[in-house]
Amino acid sequence: MFKTLLNNVGEFKRASILTPVYTSLEVLVSAFIPYVTASIIDKGINGGETGQGDMTNVCLYGGLMLALAFLSLFFGIQAGTNSAYASTGFAYNLRDAMYKNIQTFSFSNIDRFSSSGLITRMTTDVSNLQNAFQQILRASVRAPLNLIFSIFMCVFINWKMSIIFIVAMVILGCALFFIITKTVKLFSQVFVKYDDLNKSVQENIQAIRVVKAFVREDYENKKFKKAAEALYKLFVKTESLQALNHPIMNLVVYGCIIALSWFGAHFIVAGELTTGELTSMFAYVMTILTSLMMLTMIFVNITMSAANGRRVCQVLDEKADITSPPDAVTSVKDGSVEFDDVSFSYNQAIADQDGEVKKSVTRPALQHVSFKVSPGETIGIIGGTGCGKSTLASMVSRLYDVGEGTVKVGGVDVRRYDVTALRNDVSMILQNNILFSGTILDNLRWGKSDATLEECRQACQLAQASEFIEQMPDGYDTVIEQNGANVSGGQKQRLCIARALLKKPKVLILDDSTNACDTETEAKILDAFNNKVPDITKIIISQRIQSVQHANRIIIMDSGQINGIGTHEQLLKSNAIYQEIHKLQIEAGGDFDPKK
Ligand SMILES: Nc1ncnc2c1ncn2[C@@H]1O[C@H](COP(=O)(O)OP(=O)(O)OP(=O)(O)O)[C@@H](O)[C@H]1O
Ligand SMILES: [Mg+2]
Repeated sequence: MFKTLLNNVGEFKRASILTPVYTSLEVLVSAFIPYVTASIIDKGINGGETGQGDMTNVCLYGGLMLALAFLSLFFGIQAGTNSAYASTGFAYNLRDAMYKNIQTFSFSNIDRFSSSGLITRMTTDVSNLQNAFQQILRASVRAPLNLIFSIFMCVFINWKMSIIFIVAMVILGCALFFIITKTVKLFSQVFVKYDDLNKSVQENIQAIRVVKAFVREDYENKKFKKAAEALYKLFVKTESLQALNHPIMNLVVYGCIIALSWFGAHFIVAGELTTGELTSMFAYVMTILTSLMMLTMIFVNITMSAANGRRVCQVLDEKADITSPPDAVTSVKDGSVEFDDVSFSYNQAIADQDGEVKKSVTRPALQHVSFKVSPGETIGIIGGTGCGKSTLASMVSRLYDVGEGTVKVGGVDVRRYDVTALRNDVSMILQNNILFSGTILDNLRWGKSDATLEECRQACQLAQASEFIEQMPDGYDTVIEQNGANVSGGQKQRLCIARALLKKPKVLILDDSTNACDTETEAKILDAFNNKVPDITKIIISQRIQSVQHANRIIIMDSGQINGIGTHEQLLKSNAIYQEIHKLQIEAGGDFDPKK
């Protein structure tokens, strides 16, 4: 884990090294200040032949103290700037690396993380690591050095008096140890609760229209309240434990001051200690105890951030399981598609309370699927919900890799292609496709960045989208709101089809992509496909017979298996499932248009 994290320090190595160096210098210089203060008192204020004061010494040691203070300020500023630069840079690199890695994820990689979990990891977890890194660079150098220097100076001034703070350190150490062990345990649960909170926020805000349509505001509020309350309770527990730190610390510090004053007075009377030395000992003891306290805080933070580190590394170390092979084929010959005895199961990760994946269950989705599609053919796939239609389609553009068997496009196993080349030639319109915020043109060009306006127009004509676009006030420059909120479901689908067509693919897969369009528009789209782009192989997935009945062949899917393949007429005669669907949708539904 540390190696993965440290690799991301990258170009901020210099600052990361300079920070502890400057911090050490700062500590070293400031460690002498109380000692010089002692000299001002002893040799300056109480100095001189009569003990009435020696202004030369006051000025001399005062000047020295000022010089040391400025030097320590200089080193402090340097350390601060460098640590800010190093830690923010570290966080920047981590986020960048995570984001880049997430972009390489295949669908099965994505299945292993929840999107809210990924957001928490990229935000809260990285911020905590940033703070921890800054602490490691500065505080974890400063605190032990301060501790060592101050102990050394105390022993140097008067070793007998030093016994006092050794006793104090043991008391404080034990108390802090007790608090730490309890808080670290509690904090490890905090991040899982953050995931829950983010999940609730993200889902609710993304689906706010659905929430409103179903009048589920109260339910969603309760869900959010539950997640927020769980986090609140956990924080109250940890914070109230941590709040004990300060009173304990104060108790020990004041105890020390009383003990120092008591014994110090005796030592001064006995002539073993000067007033100045006693004053400086007060300062050193304060430093020792605050450093000890700081050390324990650092320990808590670093232990806590180990949980953050683990979560971030899970994302960084996740290897994309779909990549291009070394000698990848870079062009797809034609639009033929072949499934040869393909089986596939989803692996569903089951996470425990701490968000750690404990086991994964296998859910079979496709079993022994075989069929062949010739270039330019239109294939319909029909079947009940959950029977594996989308799964089957996702194998063609290699969104998931087959478990067994092979899928070939253009006569070549999809695993042998360069993934980008394959996906450019196999254009899939996902079932839950989305539009991005930006103009219609931006969205269309998302499929092909250098598409001309004319190309975009043509694609929109094919997808039956040009009519409604031209009616919009700004035409192709109309701004689409996030997730296509200002276009209807059917318009959104047509824009997605146009976007996919712009890639000029060899295989086009429509996964239930016209279900929000009226029957007439859908028929026009399918007509245009047949007449204007006859060379593209079209795979049309639907639950409606009228979407697939004009296909060259129709595949009937049932529980992950092919139940029958044939033309509309053949299946009507021979396939029981098809007959049943036909009976329910056409004969009873009555929306069958005999002209088409
Ligand atoms: N990412 C996933 N992880 C685990 N199981 C999944 C995943 N996606 C789909 N499944 C399961 O695989 C089976 C087939 O799903 P698939 O999405 O292929 O069905 P479908 O035929 O497209 O259904 P629909 O018509 O409702 O879109 C279902 O039982 C589904 O629950
Ligand atoms: Mg589906």
